[in-house]
Amino acid sequence: MLKVRGKGDKAVLVPLPPAVPRAIDRARFGSGCRGRVGHPTVAGRASSSLGIRGVWEALPRITVQRPPHRRAFLMTDPKIDATRPSSARVWNYLLGGKDNFAVDRELGEALRSANPEIAAVAKAQRRFLNQAVTLLAGEVGIRQFLDIGTGLPTADNTHEVAQRAAPESRIVYVDNDPLVLAHARALLTSSPEGETAYVDSDVEDPERILTEAARTLDFSKPVALTMIGILGNVADYAEARSIAERLLDAVPSGSYLAVSDGTSTSARSVESQRVANQSGHPYNLRTPEEIGGYFQGLELLEPGLVPTSLWRPAPGTAPAALDVYCAVGRKP
Ligand SMILES: C[S@@+](CC[C@H](N)C(=O)[O-])C[C@H]1O[C@@H](n2cnc3c(N)ncnc32)[C@H](O)[C@@H]1O
Repeated sequence: MLKVRGKGDKAVLVPLPPAVPRAIDRARFGSGCRGRVGHPTVAGRASSSLGIRGVWEALPRITVQRPPHRRAFLMTDPKIDATRPSSARVWNYLLGGKDNFAVDRELGEALRSANPEIAAVAKAQRRFLNQAVTLLAGEVGIRQFLDIGTGLPTADNTHEVAQRAAPESRIVYVDNDPLVLAHARALLTSSPEGETAYVDSDVEDPERILTEAARTLDFSKPVALTMIGILGNVADYAEARSIAERLLDAVPSGSYLAVSDGTSTSARSVESQRVANQSGHPYNLRTPEEIGGYFQGLELLEPGLVPTSLWRPAPGTAPAALDVYCAVGRKP
């Protein structure tokens, strides 16, 4: 239930827990919702005379941050299925998070039995994302990020890393998991200078992603596309290549692509894929050459295509190569 307090420019939407009308809520926030620091407001355009539904439906932009009490009833969302594992929640478990169910922990442990390095793979990918975004927002000067396959919010989410280097950075997150959507509304909030938006979409619909992201990002200026641990969800490699190409076609010269994904480079990695597939939750490992294929026509930054754990390691460290490869490429 939502209530309008105040009139005209001072109108504020106040959520009344716990009976939020989820149909309206989803209709409004199902895609392209925007998060900003602050309490729920209808920024300057609401009129209490429209009624609640009128306010929600009339406004293309609502700045909102879910208050912490909303988290308690996120689990009542009928789209969140606690009986089947989800890749976002399994990954959250492997990263040491708490936003997962027993079924996710079971699959996480089965994957760990098959490949004891799987949690290290998840952590290496987060480290790579952090490093790549720090480099792109800092030294390279990119101010727009499209992060596809966001995952559940954790430490150092893309907007936090980018806005640490450049507070005016604009970030669009994309995922298709309902729990990621629910948490993103609450937690993926922006610096006042920048903007953060969330698009609830399948990676296999890049045209929809681009249309929705264009509400926040200016595609006439360079954009960094980050796809970390997501393209293996696309069963057909040719289709995964086509998705990367269609996204890159939409961004101008000077844009970047950062990809990291699991590889079939050891028996234990292949075994973890078999376990995932058997669980009804398939993931498609690629060869390093196939990961390199996403960067066709791009100029790779140093050190090129390498195991993700070896991408610009911290000085004085000698990490082991894991079954996961990455690169960052610039569109010429
Ligand atoms: C392995 S997690 C990686 C999360 C994050 N990028 C990271 O590195 O920590 C994969 C993410 O992709 C999302 N995902 C899986 N299949 C997807 C699809 N077809 N479309 C959009 N997102 C998808 C999952 O919900 C999950 O959040």
